[in-house]
Amino acid sequence: MAEIWKEVDRYVIESLHAPDPAGEAALAANAAAGLDPIDVAPHQGKFLHLLARLCQARRILELGTLGGYSTIWLARSLPPGGQLVTLELEPAHAAVAQQNINRAGFASSVEIRVGPALSSLAQLTGPFDLIFIDADKQTYPQYLEHALRLSRPGTVILCDNVIRRGGIIDPQHSDVRVQGIRRLFEMVKNDSRLDATALQTVGAKGHDGFLLAVVNP
Ligand code: SAH
Ligand code: DHB
Ligand code: MG
Repeated sequence: MAEIWKEVDRYVIESLHAPDPAGEAALAANAAAGLDPIDVAPHQGKFLHLLARLCQARRILELGTLGGYSTIWLARSLPPGGQLVTLELEPAHAAVAQQNINRAGFASSVEIRVGPALSSLAQLTGPFDLIFIDADKQTYPQYLEHALRLSRPGTVILCDNVIRRGGIIDPQHSDVRVQGIRRLFEMVKNDSRLDATALQTVGAKGHDGFLLAVVNP
């Protein structure tokens, strides 16, 4: 099963994507620096990019930079003068990301803030047009609260890795990350400011998925 998922990923990317030397260089630099290959897949990156274009995002916020692969996809959507702020706990990840972002030509539109996302978030003022939550999963509930504070009606909030190989359907799951995501779903469901759904994904990155929410008028 997993083999055909990977082949379909490859087919999608080969048929629909332009060559992406900057993205490939970032992934190679990440591997050389020993970062875990937990970036979004290329077509997921392009999906983020298209979403940002669809909502004509001028200010984008990302939680969890790693080597900046998703950051680069999002930064590509920005109009002139647009800005992306990305939050990363690990200085070593941020250093690799900064080089990748510079090489991709986004040094002036992307700002990396190093430290625990909750501390960085407390320093930020909104509104952002699109917020991509992809840092530590157990803290997603608190990240959602900040995302709402930093939103305006129409802001798009996208959360990565919310399916966890189906783990999220188990109320007794022992993984704090799964519990964090279940709490996130409950918060989203009970918050009249948000309209949301989630989509499963399969492919080279396994069985996972995104939660997509929009802030209501
Ligand atoms: N968005 C990236 C992948 C992010 S992986 C991409 O798709 O290319 C998750 C990242 O979140 C890791 O780099 C990890 O160091 C970071 N992280 C974990 N806990 C964090 C925290 N408390 N604050 C900020 N970043 C955190
Ligand atoms: C993990 C984190 C991610 O952001 C991801 O896309 C996949 C896995 C992790 O922490 O294991
Ligand atoms: Mg992720």
